[in-house]
Formats: sequence, C-alpha cells, structure tokens
Amino acid sequence: SFEVELRRTGRTVKVDADTTVLAAIRAQALPNLPYSCEQGFCGTCQQTVVAGEIDHRDELLTDGERGDSMLICVSRSQGGNLVLDL
Ligand code: FES
Repeated sequence: SFEVELRRTGRTVKVDADTTVLAAIRAQALPNLPYSCEQGFCGTCQQTVVAGEIDHRDELLTDGERGDSMLICVSRSQGGNLVLDL
C-alpha cells in the first residue's frame, strides 16, 4: 500500500493493493470526486501530481501530461507516497 496526500484538502488517504487511488479518495476524503469510465481512457479523473513517482497505467495521457498529472482510476504509485493538488 501507499499513501496519497491531498495537499489543498489537508488530508492523507491510504491506498491498499486491492483498491484504486480514486476509490480510496472517494471513500476516505472526497465522496463527490468526479469520475466516469474507471478504465483509464475518458480523462474525467485526471489530477495534478505535486510530488511522487507515478506508475502510469492509462491509455490516454501524452508523455508531456504524464510529467505532472495522472488518471487516478487506474494509475498508482511506483512505491512511495504521492502528493496531489487536490
Ligand atoms: Fe475515466 Fe479515470 S474515470 S480515465
């Protein structure tokens, strides 16, 4: 598991191996956070990443976008914690 800090919200959520960043944030901090496909292709769940190593698992973002954003329905951390501008 790893943790995701929501910098603007001032909360940190734990993401277990059997859940997604999106589901963890909705369950633990922001129940109304928007999403749609949950499969990494619509872009609705895209969030800006302030810090951390992203494990990109989507099919949508360009290499440029991957530098500082992620689709939180499918993408994860490479191991350490992530900080989102959320
Ligand atoms: Fe569609 Fe994440 S909800 S890409």
